[in-house]
Amino acid sequence: MYLNSIKITVRTSYKSPIVCGSSKALNHTFLLGFDHSKCRLKRQIGFNFVLLHLIEERTVTLFSIIYDRFLLSTKKKRYRKSGIKDRKIGDTPLIRLFNYSSRFDRLIYAKMECENPTRSAKDRVAQYVLNKAIQEGKIDENTVVIEASSGNTGLALARLANKMGIKCTITIKDKVSATKISDLKRLGAKVIVCPSSAPRSSEENYITKAEHLEKTLEGAFYVNQNFNPDNANAHYHSTGPEIWQQTGGSITHLVGAIGTGGTLSGTARYIKEQNPNVKVIAIDARGSVLKSFGDTGQIDEEDTFSYNMDGVGKKFIPSNVQFDLFDEIIQISDLEAYQACVELNESEKIYVGHSSGAVMQGIKEMVHSCPRNACVVGIFPDHGSKYEKSIFDPNWLKKKGFISE
Ligand SMILES: Cc1ncc(COP(=O)(O)O)c(C=O)c1O
Repeated sequence: MYLNSIKITVRTSYKSPIVCGSSKALNHTFLLGFDHSKCRLKRQIGFNFVLLHLIEERTVTLFSIIYDRFLLSTKKKRYRKSGIKDRKIGDTPLIRLFNYSSRFDRLIYAKMECENPTRSAKDRVAQYVLNKAIQEGKIDENTVVIEASSGNTGLALARLANKMGIKCTITIKDKVSATKISDLKRLGAKVIVCPSSAPRSSEENYITKAEHLEKTLEGAFYVNQNFNPDNANAHYHSTGPEIWQQTGGSITHLVGAIGTGGTLSGTARYIKEQNPNVKVIAIDARGSVLKSFGDTGQIDEEDTFSYNMDGVGKKFIPSNVQFDLFDEIIQISDLEAYQACVELNESEKIYVGHSSGAVMQGIKEMVHSCPRNACVVGIFPDHGSKYEKSIFDPNWLKKKGFISE
């Protein structure tokens, strides 16, 4: 009843569950801190506190517009020529997967990249790349940031470009979840949806389209995450040091999904510089060309086919995939990754995306060969909420043949 009269935005993050909103009627903004233990909301209006009981957490998610969107839509945007240092990016938790650790009798940890502001590892890349471009004078207030993205990089760039007061255009494949596309638009980006089937040679291909914009659009800055070394450098300077510190240098195996290659290559480069004996296991999507190229130096066209997993695998070889840093490449199918997501949710009570499921499945396949004192760290790239209209939607699963009636 109270909530009906107000516009409310919600952020239920691992670090700081919080709800923010504004009320035109009452002419104020307010904060609500969600208290999980007591299952109630603490509401602050000016200096007054009102306690509001909730029947279940789901009630809050009805108003699920992220806190940042509220700030972005209300703050006057101006170009930030000093760049952005966003304290919400990075320093993500490393959590012990207790059930898997005891089941496999080895320490298994997950680096929870869904705890970044747009709920993926790509916030790190967006921040690093844009700040570097500002320092190098490649960006000014007339810039349009361009990127071809499976969704997560686009979201991270759209959010930061919006904060910086510059425009952003994202080209995206039509297989990407509808949730990601609507999120991009809400963050102020222009979205160009391209057919997933369009080959690289076609004008309709999402990367070709972004390259075309780079050439033809005045003020375009093309991030080019597949070939821009600052993608991997972002992780070399943040994810790598964090994991090294969080494990106290005891990590023995690093497992991560590869798409552009930036996350795993950058992280692995840092970790191997600290201890060259750490084994790095790359997770590719079944149907992608990365494993065959990494293993043999040749692309096995016969084993290349389309798949659903967002962000993992490729049909070409990005320079950010640094094969020399990987000790093994494992391919995981859409179905195996989906099943691992469900199992993670049931067994560890964590809600993560399709590629995190692939990483978990990869860990399950390799962990038997690790010594008993191994410390295995999997990088879990994004959050399950991004897949509510795909792998967490029973109708979608039926349509794709992952489950029967
Ligand atoms: C959900 C998801 N998982 C994994 C990856 C792969 O990460 P990277 O591109 O750093 O190799 C991506 C990349 O877009 C992604 O969006």
